[in-house]
Amino acid sequence: MDTQVGIVGAGPAGLLLAHLLGREGIDCVVLEARSREYVEHRVRAGVLEQGTVDVLTRTGVADRLQREGMVHRGIELRFGGEGHRVALSDLAGGRAITVYGQQEVVKDLIAARLDAGGPLEFEAPATEIDAERGVVRYGDGGSDELRCAIVAGCDGFHGVARAAVPADALTVYEREYPFAWLGILARAAPSSEELIYTHHERGFALHSMRSADVTRNYRQVAPGEDIEAWPDERIWEELQTRMALADGSFALNEGEVFEKGIAPMRSFVAEPMRHGRLVLAGDAAHIVPATGAKGLNLAVADVRVLARALSAYFAHGDESGLDTYSERCLRRVWRVQHFSWWMTAMLHRLTGDAFEARLQRSQLDYVVRSRAAATTLAENYVGLELEDV
Ligand code: APR
Ligand code: PHB
Repeated sequence: MDTQVGIVGAGPAGLLLAHLLGREGIDCVVLEARSREYVEHRVRAGVLEQGTVDVLTRTGVADRLQREGMVHRGIELRFGGEGHRVALSDLAGGRAITVYGQQEVVKDLIAARLDAGGPLEFEAPATEIDAERGVVRYGDGGSDELRCAIVAGCDGFHGVARAAVPADALTVYEREYPFAWLGILARAAPSSEELIYTHHERGFALHSMRSADVTRNYRQVAPGEDIEAWPDERIWEELQTRMALADGSFALNEGEVFEKGIAPMRSFVAEPMRHGRLVLAGDAAHIVPATGAKGLNLAVADVRVLARALSAYFAHGDESGLDTYSERCLRRVWRVQHFSWWMTAMLHRLTGDAFEARLQRSQLDYVVRSRAAATTLAENYVGLELEDV
């Protein structure tokens, strides 16, 4: 064996797994296809559940997160030209979210890995994984080989790990949504204390942030929309229209747009999440639409379960955690899939059918008037405890 755990992919899943295993004295090697520069600057989402913040804090990689992260105890649902606050922490036992860019988490985990002297190879793409033998071929044309007791496929949706599970052993569940998100990063101060999720007849919009002078805004567009068709001023105009309040008292702070892109919206689950010596974690096994801000947090939840299972396996030869890993994670994966689908269906312009729009409106009204319904949203949004799912 060249190592106990071969980890393919240095996204949040792979890096946190390496960090947790390193603390247990378990040998692992991380192989990442892209350069450090690319991985640390890939713009993604930025909402951390309570459980994600807790594991990063407990394991000593949250100094910058604690300094720069913005703790939010509520969100706003905006519809019919009015805003309605959902008091997340009051409704979910004091648990909160923290706004902190995913690439900042990745930077912190890479720094911790390199400081600990743990093997992390960039520009080392895995080309093939043998799930039975625990062998990863990587590098130019797969010229290198890593022999592992366990291979952790943390290589995202477009990686090679999932393909190493024989087709007849894998079941895939998926849903493509008939819209996408156009997202921008702008040098502008946040226009509100908390995130604003907006339902509007012209389509969904979201006001989020990264710091006191950088905001992140999203709006619903048609799938396959051409970003070139959206000069900055047109993007701002549409965001202002969708996020306006009936009393005219609100306007988004505008600023230089320094990053923009369009991301598809899909739900995807591959079952099982283990095959032989191969375990899948994060986007390699599941994708959620971004409306629930769950992608990163679900990857972290997988890795927390996996690290415990691997620790028992290598310390005591106890395979029970590995045997139940897939079933255990898939319970949470489907809870989070449901919540993300529910938020997406409630807040986006779907078919434009009038009956449907009335149903959405009734759902929104119920969520902001009923403590029971608001609590359901709150506890799922801040993240259910690992043990509770
Ligand atoms: N070999 C090595 N590394 C690979 C390969 C490969 N063949 N293919 C992909 N990778 C790397 C990618 O370059 C990326 O850095 O695997 C990493 C996967 O990271 P993510 O896509 O971030 O996936 P994950 O760690 O599961 O985190 C999930 O990321 O995409 C967001 O919204 C998603 O927030 C969620 C989070
Ligand atoms: C983000 O800040 O990028 C963000 C916030 C909430 C979401 C999705 C993305 O639901």
